Amino acid sequence: MLSLSDVLDARQRVMEVARHTPLEYSHSFSEMTDAEVHLKLENFQRTGAFKIRGAMNRIATLSGEQQDAGVVTASAGNHAQGVALAATRAGVDSKIVMPEHAPVSKVKATERYGGEVVLHGTDYSEAQAHAHELEDEEGRTYVHAFDDPVVMAGQGTIGLEIIEDCPNVETVVVPIGGGGLIAGIATALKEKNPDVRVVGVQAEGASSVVESLQRGAIYERESVDTIADGIATRRVGDLTFEIIKDRVDEVVTVTDEEIAVALTYLLERHKALAEGAGAIPIAAVLSEAFDYAEDEVVVPACCGGNIDLNTLTTVVMRGLVATGRYLRFQTILKDQPGALVDLGEIIAEHRANITAFHHDRTSRDVAMNDARVELEVETRGPDHVEELLDALREAGYDVEIVNGYEMGVGIPSRHANH
Ligand SMILES: Cc1ncc(COP(=O)(O)O)c(C=O)c1O
Repeated sequence: MLSLSDVLDARQRVMEVARHTPLEYSHSFSEMTDAEVHLKLENFQRTGAFKIRGAMNRIATLSGEQQDAGVVTASAGNHAQGVALAATRAGVDSKIVMPEHAPVSKVKATERYGGEVVLHGTDYSEAQAHAHELEDEEGRTYVHAFDDPVVMAGQGTIGLEIIEDCPNVETVVVPIGGGGLIAGIATALKEKNPDVRVVGVQAEGASSVVESLQRGAIYERESVDTIADGIATRRVGDLTFEIIKDRVDEVVTVTDEEIAVALTYLLERHKALAEGAGAIPIAAVLSEAFDYAEDEVVVPACCGGNIDLNTLTTVVMRGLVATGRYLRFQTILKDQPGALVDLGEIIAEHRANITAFHHDRTSRDVAMNDARVELEVETRGPDHVEELLDALREAGYDVEIVNGYEMGVGIPSRHANH
């Protein structure tokens, strides 16, 4: 099994190409949770994610002959870029197989890091099968994304950095996809200090570890559905599962909405951009998916920042809705001069800013002398949303929320007005 000495050995090789990423105290998250929250900002790693650590350790430990034959892998995500850059830096040829519909941005990024992209198959399984064919035909070494102790040891170097930069750490929260990241980090931390608690986190729509631990055997989902595409895996690895069973204290799940809220807060308060899988450990802390004490030193490991800008727009909008910063509602007005001004006055009195407006008096479900209006407004938080809705209802408007904060949804109310 993987041990601390493997991680220590990996370190020098990994640091030839990877950065020692920052660990920063977060005033905002500490205030929101009453814990002492320090963020491991691995989203600032080269290639935008931690994958380069494991890939580098794998490639640097190949024999000269293996290096000459090159490496191959299948991935349309962070692993693709990690392997491409690690191989280039080690002077090794790399082929990265991606499904034919892989986003052009990912293809280009991988090529920029020096990998040769081979587009093959309609999904990841077909791409992976082809990568194994290339492994056989061309004698290349297949670099697994997680189920390889050498790769895990490379990821474990994050654990060393956490404990060095925050020696009084009590709990580290780590996302789980295939499980290589948490297996490496837990191995490094537990041998350094067995009292450090390691909590794993998965998205509800891609969770398999909680079920696997309950059954005592790996559970494989039929499908996955989450905004955290970096950890959208149907099952963990055989080897990583053994280490998770042994070294991870607790595994929890969070919803996509909780991930969106965490991502939005991280961006706004900490000026740091994470992808869904990068924000998920913060989501677990904010949503109190596991128990922690007041002033407990908690380190969410934010391990990736590669998010597509279209996805970011959607996720931030979801985050603003869930935190009471954006409200879309409908109401009915008399179709007569001044009705709209009256409504606008109440909104202005309560200092909400109208950003969009639609007026409808022709739809069949709107009465002849009425008009239905739909407004989008910027608000300052849950209390402000409540204040505005109360004022409108008191003035006699029948208000229907189309998209907006509803008490009890999104984030625990204790944190909601921070
Ligand atoms: C940003 C990010 N975080 C976490 C993970 C999870 O890592 P693992 O698959 O080793 O569990 C991944 C996996 O690709 C990832 O891209």
